[in-house]
Amino acid sequence: MFKALVSLAAVAASLQLVNGAIIRRVTCPDGNTVGNAACCGLFAIRDDIQENLFDGGECGEEVHESLRLTFHDAIGFSPALARQGKFGGGGADGSVVTFEDTETAFHANLGIDEIIDAQKPFIAKHNITAGDFIQFAGAIGVSNCPGAPRLQFLLGRPAATQASPDLLVPEPFDSVDKILARFADVGFSPAEVVALLASHTIAAADHVDPTIPGTPFDSTPNSFDTQFFIETQLRGTLFPGTAGNQGEVQSPLRGEIRLQSDGALARDSRTACEWQSFVNNQAKLQSAFKAAMAKLAVLGQNTRRMVDCSDVIPLPKAANSKAHFPAGQTRNNVEQACRATAFPTLPTDPGPATSVPPVPPS
Ligand code: HEM
Repeated sequence: MFKALVSLAAVAASLQLVNGAIIRRVTCPDGNTVGNAACCGLFAIRDDIQENLFDGGECGEEVHESLRLTFHDAIGFSPALARQGKFGGGGADGSVVTFEDTETAFHANLGIDEIIDAQKPFIAKHNITAGDFIQFAGAIGVSNCPGAPRLQFLLGRPAATQASPDLLVPEPFDSVDKILARFADVGFSPAEVVALLASHTIAAADHVDPTIPGTPFDSTPNSFDTQFFIETQLRGTLFPGTAGNQGEVQSPLRGEIRLQSDGALARDSRTACEWQSFVNNQAKLQSAFKAAMAKLAVLGQNTRRMVDCSDVIPLPKAANSKAHFPAGQTRNNVEQACRATAFPTLPTDPGPATSVPPVPPS
């Protein structure tokens, strides 16, 4: 009788109430608790990359590049090619690392070799496939950016078997038609494309204008806020470096760069209202980006064979800035493209016209 009571107490200790559902928790050998024992090995990898890849948990250049890498690996997937009997790529399978020599030579992957070289030693050191590592590092990295959602992470991508075909990664000089068609091929609606582009709120370009590396897409590149959606709607008046670069259009702020694709998606009738809907809507930014990234991270993968290890991803801090017009900009500078709803009312930052400093290399 006493024994039975003791074992009942032990089981109860391993059960927790989460979102109203009772789930079993597992204590890993290192003392961390998770929902599934298969996730235990990820804590050591998390701590290693936070310390040694992301410089102690920053939302800096390596995080931005790691997020870009999640996309460039995953989007190497085309059901349309497969329907023509060709190899359509393995999606989020790590092929961008495993077949690095082939994929880094693709024009749209310019500059991606830097983060591949930075990530490779971690993949070699830990017991994890390249496909899992890329998405894991992206999710951990994003959690360092204030205002970000906690991204889902599923474990269990098998090793890639072939390089992705070329021409599947969108280019900043592609038309909106071409971009939406490319994303539709992998199952994303225009609204989901806009949600994915929230990634450009923690982003900078090194290669669009190579004379000004580290030039951000918004004035707050270390914060996962809605400034990107505000600033891409402002009238472009200048090039932050040289004129005439392929895939670049004028931006509204010194030190800020605008991709032709971002400027066009912000103004196209199919996407403009969705674009504007993110302005000053942090809750939508988080939920829509989280949902779209959950789809992106498993493109080409069999999720039935994967384990949900999202509880290894840290909870990000809240946003540290309020939506605003940068100093020197007002509603008069907005190129209103959404016909259905007015641009939200926002305060303008005080002081002289905003000039955005570059994201420092680390
Ligand atoms: C229409 C689709 C897209 C186009 C044309 C595009 C294009 C670009 C370009 C040209 C750059 C600058 C690269 C450089 O010069 O260093 C860039 C940076 C970046 N992109 Fe995209 N992108 C797209 C969608 C996405 C998506 C879906 C994600 C992630 C989910 C993403 C994440 C990033 C990040 C985080 C950076 C910054 C990298 C850094 O700061 O080092 N992009 N993108």
